[in-house]
Amino acid sequence: MSQNNLLPYNTMRMSATTKGIIPIYSEQDVFEVLVEELSPLKIIGGGSNILITKDQDAYILKNEIKGIEVIDEDIDKVLIKVGAGENWHQLVMWAISHDLGGIENLALIPGCVGAAPMQNIGAYGIEQESVFHSLSAINLEAGTTRVFFKEDCKFGYRESIFKNEVKGKYFITHVNYILSKSHELNTKYGAINQKLEDLGITNPSIEDIANAVIEIRQSKLPDPKVIPNTGSFFKNPIVAISILEAIKVEYPEIVSYPVDDEKVKIPAAWLIQHAGYKGIRVGDAGTHKSHALVLVNYGNATGGEMLSFAKTIQEEVESKFGVRLIPEVNIW
Ligand code: EPU
Repeated sequence: MSQNNLLPYNTMRMSATTKGIIPIYSEQDVFEVLVEELSPLKIIGGGSNILITKDQDAYILKNEIKGIEVIDEDIDKVLIKVGAGENWHQLVMWAISHDLGGIENLALIPGCVGAAPMQNIGAYGIEQESVFHSLSAINLEAGTTRVFFKEDCKFGYRESIFKNEVKGKYFITHVNYILSKSHELNTKYGAINQKLEDLGITNPSIEDIANAVIEIRQSKLPDPKVIPNTGSFFKNPIVAISILEAIKVEYPEIVSYPVDDEKVKIPAAWLIQHAGYKGIRVGDAGTHKSHALVLVNYGNATGGEMLSFAKTIQEEVESKFGVRLIPEVNIW
């Protein structure tokens, strides 16, 4: 395998050639690539949220910008600047070891810090936008630096401007977050409460919350190092209440979360399971046995095989429930 292959750089373990993989350790490294006029350019972080379906006729910039520093603080808040190539979970652990709250519910999410605003990562009742302050990025066409504040990022459910209007245009170098010295715990997600109760914890610390989240995730989500996967493959669909009511006729027990007066969010995992696709394997492509929303590569599945399996799931869910699932992962 050539060193220009993406195989070690994506958690679904897809093999794909490139024109070159260039590690980026600083802003200066990005400017040097721009001076060399290498093109086209694509950016990879932790590689935990992409499905690569073909060889890439592009130079790949691998974000390795590191560092976590406190740049401002007051009596209750701390503003930190984080290199976008830092591992997200390591940042969560850093925050806990410094007794800083706000991201403990986001423990063990794979990927790097630069991908967090891009995906607006979320779990167990928290999304990264709740602690996001701003980010610095380099425009790969103009070679200029820009700061994006929260309102510039157009955060939504697993959405941001970086997945839409300016997709592929900016290399995120640093992300600034506001963390809290006093802790406002978010334990409203049922599974966290249950886990804390099981552990006999009545007055949890941020570390207890992170540990509960880690245990929950480890119990139902496959470790990509053991079984290659990219976490949730599809987004949870937001549908008209009438669609939920129609499903409820046959399945009164379906879970749903209110969005507004007209819409609800329903778990894609539930739809996939009830379309008969939990723990199913077609060749080496499949869904995990303990979580239907996680597509896994059981061995040597190709990107094309994974994509075609994902399409089958989309079609089966749509024909059974009238709901079209939209991928959450980025398809390359
Ligand atoms: N469910 C099933 N079958 C399954 C699994 C789950 O029917 O095989 C049902 C259960 O009723 C459960 C519901 O689906 O109550 C929701 O499941 P879960 O709590 O596991 O969460 P999710 O909606 O599948 C979302 C995020 C996850 C995040 C969890 C926890 C998305 C696309 N996914 O999953 O994020 O960890 O909530 O907050 O929003 C990711 O983005 O990669 C990811 C793992």
